[in-house]
Amino acid sequence: MPVVKFLGKELSCKKGSLLRDVLIDHGMSPHNGAAKALNCFGLGTCGTCTVKITGITHPLTAVERFRLNLPPHRLEDGLRLSCQVRVNHSIFVEKGQGFWGQDISGLGTNQD
Ligand code: FES
Repeated sequence: MPVVKFLGKELSCKKGSLLRDVLIDHGMSPHNGAAKALNCFGLGTCGTCTVKITGITHPLTAVERFRLNLPPHRLEDGLRLSCQVRVNHSIFVEKGQGFWGQDISGLGTNQD
């Protein structure tokens, strides 16, 4: 059973679960501020559920490749859409600042 490390918590989930669902099912959120209510609810269009993932994941989906190439995101930032990522292995997840989580300047590599 994979474990998602997020904000100091360890969240177990069924292999293949959508990351956004895992966070929400554990009372957490991949969205910041008003984006918790103003989002596409997992369609992959709003871009507010972005996260930085450390660990093994599948390649970007076509939906991610499209949305993460539109402002304020940039593909080269390496973010993922948590609503499109299936958790198949244990991963470490961080969230950037800003409505879309696009400000990743404060993210580190501390996986504790
Ligand atoms: S919830 Fe909108 S892109 Fe993921």
